Amino acid sequence: IKITIIDREGEAHNVDAPTDMNMNLMEIVRMHELAPEGTIGICGGMAMCASCQCYVLSHEHLMPEKSYEEEDMLDQAFFVKDNSRLGCQIHITPELEGLEVKLAPHST
Ligand code: FES
Repeated sequence: IKITIIDREGEAHNVDAPTDMNMNLMEIVRMHELAPEGTIGICGGMAMCASCQCYVLSHEHLMPEKSYEEEDMLDQAFFVKDNSRLGCQIHITPELEGLEVKLAPHST
């Protein structure tokens, strides 16, 4: 599928996201090198670092429920908005065709 990822500089990228490889959104960002190495996916997708935080700009109704771990991590993260999600908790499925997300600012 094609999805649009707006990087931390505000530039939009329309990228391919395979649905047959069990990938999540954080991995797609890394695959396309849309955030510097070491600033995203630090915990490896365990919902334990919030480095993959993004703002979901479309398809809100198709987003999975947040797990307790994700809620907890977002409670501690910076720059959190109502539409914040952890990218590593969003799995790439065919229904997400055309998804638009924006990466949250990097915080240490
Ligand atoms: Fe750490 Fe998503 S990669 S919370």
